[in-house]
Amino acid sequence: MAKRIPTGIKGFDDLVQGGFPEGSVALIIGTPGTGKTLFTLEYVHNGATRFKEKSLYVTLEQSLDDIREQAKQIGLDLKAAEKSGMLTLMHIPIHSFNTESINEIKKEVQKKGIKRLVVDSLSTLSVNAPVYTPIKDIALRDIMNYKAFFSPPILGDFVVKRFIYGFLYDLKQLGCTTLVTSEAPEKGEYLSRDTVSEFIADGILLLNFEAMGGEFSRSLLVRKMRGTKADEDIHPFEITEKGVVVHNLKN
Ligand SMILES: Nc1ncnc2c1ncn2[C@@H]1O[C@H](COP(=O)(O)OP(=O)(O)OP(=O)(O)O)[C@@H](O)[C@H]1O
Ligand SMILES: [Mg+2]
Repeated sequence: MAKRIPTGIKGFDDLVQGGFPEGSVALIIGTPGTGKTLFTLEYVHNGATRFKEKSLYVTLEQSLDDIREQAKQIGLDLKAAEKSGMLTLMHIPIHSFNTESINEIKKEVQKKGIKRLVVDSLSTLSVNAPVYTPIKDIALRDIMNYKAFFSPPILGDFVVKRFIYGFLYDLKQLGCTTLVTSEAPEKGEYLSRDTVSEFIADGILLLNFEAMGGEFSRSLLVRKMRGTKADEDIHPFEITEKGVVVHNLKN
């Protein structure tokens, strides 16, 4: 069994035999406000402070000050972890994201010896994929195989899928244990909006927030985890001032 990378998140690691498999790339999928950002912030914060592993948090959505403020809501002091040199925050504004950005991340990973990596979020990227996919990267032969080649929406969709595939592949090559957040689609047959990332990723966590008997409740499900005997139950998930907590009803 691959070495496990513990999150230190209360109640979570036991569900996946001690943590994420080292070097794997997992998607954290959920609708807005389900806790994707907070879960992944706690993963890097604990990594940097408790497990002494260099961690990098890449946000495409929020400013670094926003991220630091958000972390405070669950009792995480990112500034202190940054000062110690164990945690690095990086903001790549989506309008400046381009094919060089993965190299920027790679440079940082190699320079600092990063072990834990988060990208928040993939959905931001997929919405913008057609803008920064250079035409030369769209192989004509691929498009020719596609029956509806003349339809712009389908061509756009094709570009997004290709991009997502390439981006997750590149992330995997970095060798870090990586979490990537992704927005869930409205109910349908796919888990992710882009419909391909779920097949490429090594692991998938689904975060949910829905009405149950008149009350809203949060839950977490380990939907897939390659190389792991994962727990298959839906677990209550709580966001508290002291971090996120996964409850196990069987314990
Ligand atoms: N201390 C706290 N106690 C309870 N709930 C909290 C606390 N701090 C934050 N929250 C809740 O956590 C939610 C935000 O979680 P988070 O930002 O991680 O979601 P997200 O899935 O990343 O959302 P988005 O898709 O919009 O980026 C908010 O709805 C907020 O109400
Ligand atoms: Mg978020």
